[in-house]
Amino acid sequence: MEQELIEIPNSETRRKKTIKMEKEEKGIYDLPGVGAATAEKLIAVGYSDLMSIAVATPAELIEATGMGDAVAKKMIAVARSSLEMGFESGEDLLRKREKVLRIKIGSKAFESLLGGGLETGAITECFGEFGSGKTQLGHALAVNCQSIDKDAVAVYIDTENTFRPERIIQFAKGAGLDEEQVLRNIKVARAYNSDHQMLLAEKVEDLIKKQGLNVKVVIVDSLTAHFRAEFIGRGTLADRQQKLNKHMHTLMKLADTHNLSVYVTNQVMAKPDMFFGDPTQAIGGHIVAHASTFRVYLRKGKKGTRVAKLIDAPNLAEGEASFYVDESGIKDIE
Ligand code: GTP
Ligand code: MG
Repeated sequence: MEQELIEIPNSETRRKKTIKMEKEEKGIYDLPGVGAATAEKLIAVGYSDLMSIAVATPAELIEATGMGDAVAKKMIAVARSSLEMGFESGEDLLRKREKVLRIKIGSKAFESLLGGGLETGAITECFGEFGSGKTQLGHALAVNCQSIDKDAVAVYIDTENTFRPERIIQFAKGAGLDEEQVLRNIKVARAYNSDHQMLLAEKVEDLIKKQGLNVKVVIVDSLTAHFRAEFIGRGTLADRQQKLNKHMHTLMKLADTHNLSVYVTNQVMAKPDMFFGDPTQAIGGHIVAHASTFRVYLRKGKKGTRVAKLIDAPNLAEGEASFYVDESGIKDIE
């Protein structure tokens, strides 16, 4: 956009620019039946652009806004027809896949479980009990992403006040990186509640676009703790899921448009009705599970080791890897 502004504005470029702006500005306000109040409700639960409406079901829109069935169906139809629901060729996608980078973890076994490290362009979720290593992995990624590029930046959204610069220094030393530079290239924000957390995730776009930072990983530790604490009881579960959905959508979009890696941590809760297998289950239900590209279950193993189990991945086999955490990072078991 800004580049176009310095062009000599002959009538043809002006016309093109107007068309471009019109296209860009076409949003949910242009849909039939969307006044200011409805738009506000839609945006509040994550339906902020035409694509999100186009792929929604009438029932979802009705639940979000209280609008009638006919209005919801019409809105979806108009959103669909006004979008180029773009098909990309397999070739284009392969080219996109070639740009995928992998952030090292420290343990080779864990890295190969994930196909070489944490992929960019994707969300990786680790869930597991307290002390299973989720936060340690977050620290490792914040440090190791800086081996990809000299100016690579990690964004750390800390909801539990467990980010420790002292640990970063230890990990940087372990990875043979300059500690001061590593610390400088980690942007940490403490999120005080779920709304704050969501806002911080939205602000990452500004760090990239306005400040020109080369963000390679966004860490949200923990993704679900605030949501879990704030939305208690059945009545509010739908609200919680809608907000989580919006949050995941923001993160997915960041990963996709900026080829960066998103790492989120998640707690588990006891499943008292479960008699076989592991009696724990990740928080956040199908929304988090579905939005995460890779899902890893972390648990404590024998003699202080940790075990990572790949639960869900689009193109990798399920499997397990053992590792341990020590002073200087995440390591393989000899
Ligand atoms: P919650 O956030 O409580 O759910 O747990 P978590 O999964 O985030 O656990 P975290 O990543 O904080 O792991 C904590 C564990 O990492 C500790 O129990 C230690 O085993 C290990 N750890 C953390 N710091 C050090 C350290 O400086 N040296 C060593 N050797 N181990 C450490
Ligand atoms: Mg933690």
